[in-house]
Amino acid sequence: MEVKTSLLDNMIGVGDMVLIEPLSEDTFIENLKKRFDHNEIYTYIGSVVISMNPYKSLPIYTAEKVEEYRNRNFYELSPHIYALADEAYRSLRDQDKDQCILITGESGAGKTEASKFVMSYVAAVCGKGQEVNKVKEQLLQSNPVLEAFGNAKTVRNDNSSRFGKYMDVEFDFKGDPLGGVISNYLLEKSRVVKQPRGERNFHIFYQLLSGASDDTLKKLKLDRDFSKYNYLSLDSATVNGLDDAASFRTVRNAMQIVGFMEDEVQSVLELVAAVLKLGNIEFKPESRCNGFDESRIKDKNDLKEMCELLGIEQSVLERAFSFRTVEAKMEKVSTTLNVAQAYYARDALAKNLYSRLFSWLVNRINESIKAQTKTSKKVMGVLDIYGFEIFEDNSFEQFIINYCNEKLQQIFIELTLREEQEEYVREGIEWTNIEYFNNAIICDLIENNKNGILAMLDEECLRPGTVTDETFLDKLNTVCAEHQHFESRQSKNSKFLTDHSLPHNCFRIQHYAGKVLYRVEGFVDKNNDLLYRDLSQAMYKANHSLIKILFPEGNPAKVNLKRPPTAGFQFRASVGTLMKNLLTKNPNYIRCVKPNDKKAAHIFTDSLVCHQVRYLGLMENVRVRRAGYAFRQAYEPCLERYKMLCKQTWPHWKGPAREGVEVLLKNLQVPAEEFAYGRSKIFIRNPRTLFFLEEKRRQCLEDLATLIQKIYRGWKCRIHFLLLKKSQVVVAAWYRRFAQQKKYQNIRSSALVVQSFIRGWKARKLLRELKHKKRCEEAVTTISAYWHGTQVRREYRKFFRANAGKKIYDFTIQRIMQKYFMGLKKTMPSMSPVDKSWPARPYGFLDRTHQELRRIFHLWRCKKYRSQFTEEKKATYEEKLAASELFKDKKALYPSSVGQPFKGDYVEITKNPKYQKLNSLAEDKVLLADVVSKINRANGKGAPRIFLLTKKSLVLADQKTGQVKASVPLLDLSSVSVSTQSDGFFALKLKEGSTSAAKGDFLLSSDRLIEIITKLHRIGAASADRNQINIDISDEFLVQFKQDKVCVKFIQGTPKNGNGVACKRKNNRLLEVSVPSP
Ligand SMILES: Nc1ncnc2c1ncn2[C@@H]1O[C@H](COP(=O)(O)OP(=O)(O)OP(=O)(O)O)[C@@H](O)[C@H]1O
Ligand SMILES: [Mg+2]
Repeated sequence: MEVKTSLLDNMIGVGDMVLIEPLSEDTFIENLKKRFDHNEIYTYIGSVVISMNPYKSLPIYTAEKVEEYRNRNFYELSPHIYALADEAYRSLRDQDKDQCILITGESGAGKTEASKFVMSYVAAVCGKGQEVNKVKEQLLQSNPVLEAFGNAKTVRNDNSSRFGKYMDVEFDFKGDPLGGVISNYLLEKSRVVKQPRGERNFHIFYQLLSGASDDTLKKLKLDRDFSKYNYLSLDSATVNGLDDAASFRTVRNAMQIVGFMEDEVQSVLELVAAVLKLGNIEFKPESRCNGFDESRIKDKNDLKEMCELLGIEQSVLERAFSFRTVEAKMEKVSTTLNVAQAYYARDALAKNLYSRLFSWLVNRINESIKAQTKTSKKVMGVLDIYGFEIFEDNSFEQFIINYCNEKLQQIFIELTLREEQEEYVREGIEWTNIEYFNNAIICDLIENNKNGILAMLDEECLRPGTVTDETFLDKLNTVCAEHQHFESRQSKNSKFLTDHSLPHNCFRIQHYAGKVLYRVEGFVDKNNDLLYRDLSQAMYKANHSLIKILFPEGNPAKVNLKRPPTAGFQFRASVGTLMKNLLTKNPNYIRCVKPNDKKAAHIFTDSLVCHQVRYLGLMENVRVRRAGYAFRQAYEPCLERYKMLCKQTWPHWKGPAREGVEVLLKNLQVPAEEFAYGRSKIFIRNPRTLFFLEEKRRQCLEDLATLIQKIYRGWKCRIHFLLLKKSQVVVAAWYRRFAQQKKYQNIRSSALVVQSFIRGWKARKLLRELKHKKRCEEAVTTISAYWHGTQVRREYRKFFRANAGKKIYDFTIQRIMQKYFMGLKKTMPSMSPVDKSWPARPYGFLDRTHQELRRIFHLWRCKKYRSQFTEEKKATYEEKLAASELFKDKKALYPSSVGQPFKGDYVEITKNPKYQKLNSLAEDKVLLADVVSKINRANGKGAPRIFLLTKKSLVLADQKTGQVKASVPLLDLSSVSVSTQSDGFFALKLKEGSTSAAKGDFLLSSDRLIEIITKLHRIGAASADRNQINIDISDEFLVQFKQDKVCVKFIQGTPKNGNGVACKRKNNRLLEVSVPSP
C-alpha cells in the first residue's frame, strides 16, 4: 500500500507558518529557529518558501530526494525547495502556465544557491534524451562561467553575485527543455578597479592566476603573484573554502560544454589579462609650458605588454591616456589630461572593458543555449538578483541594487498582499483589511519620472554647466526633502539638521529593508558611464577580434554625437521590462533569510532574522494567508478539475460552473466555513481542504483509470475470449471426435473381449455338455459292454473256462513273438558277412529259433554279399575256396595265403620279351607263371626256375634265359606231396611209366605253394578226361629221384643260416628240411 505522507507528519515546529498558533513575531522567529536547529531550513507560508541559509552542506539535495518530491503534492511532504520547483514545473507542463521563480533576500541569504537547486531539480525531473541532456548540461554549465566573471567575495558573502541574473528556461509541450535566455542586470563594474576592505575583485582574476598553466600565463604575459597587480586587493586574496585553481578548471570545462571555441576562450583570457595589465599602468605629471601638468606614463612596460596582448598600437593608446578630443559642432578640440584624469580614463577603460566583456559572455552563452525550434514554448524564469545590501560606504551601485530589491519587494507585495486583498474585494468576499507596509512609495521616490532620484540624476548629468555630485545632492535636497523616506542633512526638513549620523555629502533612504546611507561621490560619473572617445577609438583600432566587437562606438565611420543613455536610465528601463515580464507569469516565491552575519553554521541571530522577517513582510504575508483563503480558482477550471468527485457533475455539468462547484462541495460535505464563493472564483480557506479535494481527485482518477483499464481489459479479454471460444469449439469438435473414436474403439474392443469371453464360455459350456453327453454315451456303451460281457461271461462261463488257458497262452506267445520280432528288427547286426554279432536271446524257449534266425540271416547276408560279385571275382573266390578246402587246418602255410590274391602270372610272361619264346610254347592260356626253387637232389639246394602252368602241362624253364628245362603234361602227374609245416616245399610226383617220369619227381619250393597246388588240383577237377590229382599232406613223404626213392622229412628247428627253411641231404635216403617253428 502506498505510504501517505503529509506536511503535517513528523513536523518540527510548524511546517507552514499559516498553521502557527498563536501568531506573533516571537512565535514566528521561534518556529524558524527551532526548525533551523533541526536542519529544517525550509518553511512555508502558504505557497511561499522561506529558506534559511544553513551555511553547511545538508544531505537533502540527493537524487533520492528528487525522486521523493517528484510528482508529489506541494503539501504532501515536509517543506522543501524541491516541492516548489516541482509545483512550478508541473503547472508549467500540465497547465501550460508560464512560471517565474522569484528568489529574494539579502546578500548571502542563499539566493544563488537556491536558484541552482531549482534548476538542478527541474533538470533532473524533466525529459531525457541525448539532445535534451545536452541542453540541460549547457544551461547548468552557464552558471560557473557567469559566477566566475560576475561573482566576488564581499564582506557578506564569499560568492556574492555582483550582477543581476534572470534566466528564462524554455520548454516544449512535453516539458522537455529546449533552451534558455539569460538577461543580466548592471554588473558592479567599479569593483574591477577598487574593492572595499576585506573584499576581492571578481573571481576570474584570482582563478586565472592560480589555475592557469605556466604556459598560458606566459602567453598572457602574466605573473602568478597577485601582489604584482594593482587591481587585486591583497587582504583577502585567498578565501577559505574557495579553491581558485580548481574553480578555474571547472570554468574552462564549463566554457567548453557551453560551446566556447578555443580561440574565444583565449580571447576572453587575454582581455582579463589586459585588465590586470591596465591596472598596472601608472602616470606621472609632466609640466607643460602653459603651466598645466600633463600626465605621462611612468613605466611603459605594462602598456607595451597590454598593447601586445590586444594588438593595439602602443602610441595610439599612450596618446589616448594623455589627450582628450572633444568634438563639438564639427570641430575637434584636443585637451591634455592631467594625472588624475589619466587615472580616471584608465579605470574607466578597465571597467568598460570588463563589463562589456561580461555582457559579451552573456550574449555568447545565450547564442549557445537558445532554443533551436521556433515552436511555441513554455517558460520558467528564475530570478537571482543581487540581494539588498547595506555597506559602510554605499555608492551608486548599492543604490541601484537596493532599488532593484525594492522593486522586487514591490512585486511581491503586489502579488501576495495587495493583489490578494483586492481580489477578495473584487470577488465580493467578506474581508477585513490587513495592514501592511507598501513600499510603492519608496519605488516612487527612486524611479518617478518627474522627481525621482534617478530622474534627478539624469537631469543633472545632462545639464550644461558644471555638474558635480554636490550639485546633484543639492537638487535632491530641494526636490525630495518632503519625502518621508528621504533624509539629508541639507534638506529643508529641519529634523535632520542636527543628525550627526548623516554626513553632509550623503543622503539616506529608508528602504523597505532598512535605512541606507548613500555617499553621493561618483554618482554623476557612474551614471554618465563615460569613456573618452579617444580610448574607445583606440580599442576599436585593436587588432583583436573580441575588442573590436566590444567597442563599436569607436568606429570613426559611425561617430555618434548623441549621448548614450545613462546607467541609471538603462537600469530603470531594464528593471521595468523585467517587472512587466514577471507580472505575466505565475510567481513562485523563495524568500531567503540569513541566520547570522558570520557565515557560520548553527548560529541563529534572532535580531538579524527578526529584521529580515520584518522587512520581507513575512508576518503580513502570514496574516493575509490566515485571514484569507489559501486557495482560489475560477469556477470553470475548478469544476473541470474536481467534477469527477460527484455524480451530478460527472461527466458533464449542464448548468453554470458556479452551481456545479456548489453541488460538488455540498456533495463532498465540505464544511461551509472552509470555502467562500466569489464572483468568478471559489475560495478555499484551508490548504487541508484542498489536500482533501486533491486526494479525493487522485483516488477518483485512480478509480477512473481503473475503470478505463477495466473496460479496456474487459474488451481485450472479451476479444481474446471470443477468439479462444472459437478456437475452443474447433478444438473441442476435434477432440470430441477423437475422444468418441477412442471411446468407440475401447467399447468395441471391450465388446469383442466380452463377446469372446461369452462365446468361449458358451463354447466351453457346450463342449462340456457335449463331452458329458459323449461320456454318457461312452459310459452307456461301456456299461452295456460290461453288462453284455457280464451277461455273456455269466452265460458262457462254463465254456470259457475250458479254453481260456490255451487262448491266453496263444495270445501271450503271440504277443511275446510279436515283441521279439519287433525287438530283433530294431537290433539287427550289420550286413557284413564277417560280423559275428547277434542280439542276445530274450527268452530261453526261443533259443533254437534265435540260432536258426541267426544262421538264416547269415546265409541271406552272404547271399546278398555274393550277389554283388563279378565272374572274375567269383572265380578268384572259388579258387580261394578250393585252397581252403585243400589246406585249411592241414598246412601251416595256409593262413598266410588267405590274404594274398591269386594273381597267376607273377613274371608277366606275355609282356616280358625274355619269355616270349616260352610263352609261345604254351599252347593254352598260362594259368600260373612264377619263379620257384628247384631243389637239387644231391645237396638239397635250390635253383630258380620259371614255373609255368597251363591247362594241359606244366613247364620249368631257366629263369634267365627262359629256356625250357622240363615240360610235363598234367596227365603224367599223379600226386603232389606237401608238408604240414609252413614251408613251401612240394613234390610233384609223376605217374610211373610216363614219359616224364624218367627224370624222376620234382621237388620244388615256392612261397605261393598254396596257389600253385590249388590251381593244379582245380585243373584236374575241371577236366573230365583226367583224374583228380591227389594231394598228400604229411611231414614225410617219398620222392622218386631217378631210381632212388628219397624220403623228405620235415622237422622243426632253427636252421643255422638265419630264419629261412634249410634243406639238407642227410644220406641217400633222406632229405631233411628244417622248418622254423611257428
Ligand atoms: N542551501 C544551502 N546549503 C548550504 N549552503 C548554502 C545554502 N544556501 C547558501 N549557502 C551558503 O551560503 C553562501 C551564500 O549563498 P549565495 O551565494 O546563494 O547568497 P546570495 O543570496 O546569492 O548572495 P548575493 O546576493 O550576495 O549573491 C553560499 O556560498 C553557500 O556557502
Ligand atoms: Mg547570489
